[in-house]
Amino acid sequence: MPDQITITRPDDWHLHLRDGAALAAVLPHSARQFARAIVMPNLRPPVVSVEQALAYRQRIVDALPAGPRFEPLMTLYLTDTTSPAEMKRARDAGILAIKLYPAGATTHSDAGVTDLKRVGGVLEAAEREGIALLVHGEVTDPEVDVFDREAVFIERHLIGLRRSFPGLKIVLEHITTKDGAQYVAEGGEKTGATITAHHLLYNRNALFRGGIRPHWYCLPILKRELHRVALVKAATSGSGRFFLGTDSAPHAAALKENACGCAGCYTAFHALELYAEAFDAAGALDRLEAFASVDGAAFYGLPRNAGTLTLEKRTWTVPETLPFGDGELRPLGGGQQLSWAIAAPTDAERSRP
Ligand code: DOR
Ligand code: ZN
Repeated sequence: MPDQITITRPDDWHLHLRDGAALAAVLPHSARQFARAIVMPNLRPPVVSVEQALAYRQRIVDALPAGPRFEPLMTLYLTDTTSPAEMKRARDAGILAIKLYPAGATTHSDAGVTDLKRVGGVLEAAEREGIALLVHGEVTDPEVDVFDREAVFIERHLIGLRRSFPGLKIVLEHITTKDGAQYVAEGGEKTGATITAHHLLYNRNALFRGGIRPHWYCLPILKRELHRVALVKAATSGSGRFFLGTDSAPHAAALKENACGCAGCYTAFHALELYAEAFDAAGALDRLEAFASVDGAAFYGLPRNAGTLTLEKRTWTVPETLPFGDGELRPLGGGQQLSWAIAAPTDAERSRP
């Protein structure tokens, strides 16, 4: 077993960076590991126009620490009133994707889509302009059990959406079930999926280990072990259509340790190390590079990154807390040991553009 692996510098295809002081606190963690990230638009107010996305992009660039280059890839938040004409403007501005949040499905999704029928014109324009559709794939129907919402979304909405827009690139974000993995595996070359590190490492027992564990609460929620196993199988399968997306979603600790705690796991701090842990446990470290650094770029039609990142086998302890503006942030699994660590970049790596 190798005690060191070097991979092409990876990308995070699903990331929440927030804004202001929160952005300044978390951005260095992603920039240390990833060359690019697709930045989610669920700010308050949401990023609904090209102008807002470009202004947000500039705030991210302005907050970047010195160090290796990091490129934020911007997205727009799809609403019932998004204009189809915005898709051409988005393409011209280098915006990669639009994000579909079913209204009420998750954090800051209240401005999301209430009925897919309302956005047919926009999706047609996105298909035409080569803008990808990123999907939070959960129904919001309160009658549907929270653990079934992904599978029901596929059945009720995704199958029809796929059929109506065959040329549209669709990414089913942060898949959490064997149903999601199977749908994507059989979905053809324009359908992809991101998988988080936490859904590869944990099942829903983690939410209740010795008491209620708010830092393991995210949406879509952790599922049964059989689903976790299916996700590991998909991520390590060698299929090019499953790729890395942390869904790292920072919330101040006080807002998670709360009577109505926010959804979101903070994993950007130790993302690559968490993925390495999951791939190592599956005996598939040799597949990590494709998942983290190759397949996502290929799906989006972007070049592979220059530069490398090295992980070494070395035990270290995840910090319990990190600074987060006026509050603090608890990285997932704080206080626990991990067996892979990012090695300091060599001078040659550091000087690469
Ligand atoms: O757990 C989640 N947190 N899921 C999402 O879809 C949104 C995210 C957030 O923005 O906090
Ligand atoms: Zn997300």
